[in-house]
Amino acid sequence: MPASLSIPRAIRVFQRQVLRWYARYQRPLPWRATRDPYKILVSEIMLQQTQVDRVIPKYHEFLKRYPTVKELAKARPREVRKLWYPLGYNIRPIRLRNIAKQVVQRHGGSIPDSYDGLVAMDGIGRYTAGAVLSFAFKQDAPILDTNVARLLSRYFGVRTPLKRGTTRRRLWGLAATVIPKGQGYTINQAMMDFGALICTARKPQCRVCALRRTCASYPYVK
Ligand code: ADE
Repeated sequence: MPASLSIPRAIRVFQRQVLRWYARYQRPLPWRATRDPYKILVSEIMLQQTQVDRVIPKYHEFLKRYPTVKELAKARPREVRKLWYPLGYNIRPIRLRNIAKQVVQRHGGSIPDSYDGLVAMDGIGRYTAGAVLSFAFKQDAPILDTNVARLLSRYFGVRTPLKRGTTRRRLWGLAATVIPKGQGYTINQAMMDFGALICTARKPQCRVCALRRTCASYPYVK
């Protein structure tokens, strides 16, 4: 980052550029066409270890078979696992069904709209809670997945992403700081797309990147 650029200014530039880029290039993904917290939860658990294009058909199939949290809570674990099977990491369907059961038993079938309510459930961590709060309930809750972590650590010059506790804390802090008031939904989705399409792990698209002039890692991205 150029010495003349203070952190608050770097944050404002980051917000403006990422949002402008997203307005133009965002991907029309099915879970962006819903506010239903159950559907968003399903998409987020699927997306945790699987690529977007493989998730899309399975997301539709899963919701056709289990359209509500109550249907999923009643389902047989074997059947849920079978439907999920091609996505791999097959503990996830069991975890998701277990979350559905807790939602029914403890919350009358409504997914909680608070951080504490969400993370109190077995199977929901900080990332999933932030995704549900920002994508379903439009709260200004931070999220940090590998895409967002890579983008923030490169842009703000944070070393060794996701390795040590301090780095992680710093990145969570940045993920919260970069949210413009009332725009948690948009900037979180935007950072995911930016990380997936421009600030990629291998071969980042620095030459066309809208953030390159203020990026701490440009032109020597690692
Ligand atoms: N990966 C995890 N959540 C995502 C989302 N909402 N959109 C795109 N990629 C994602």
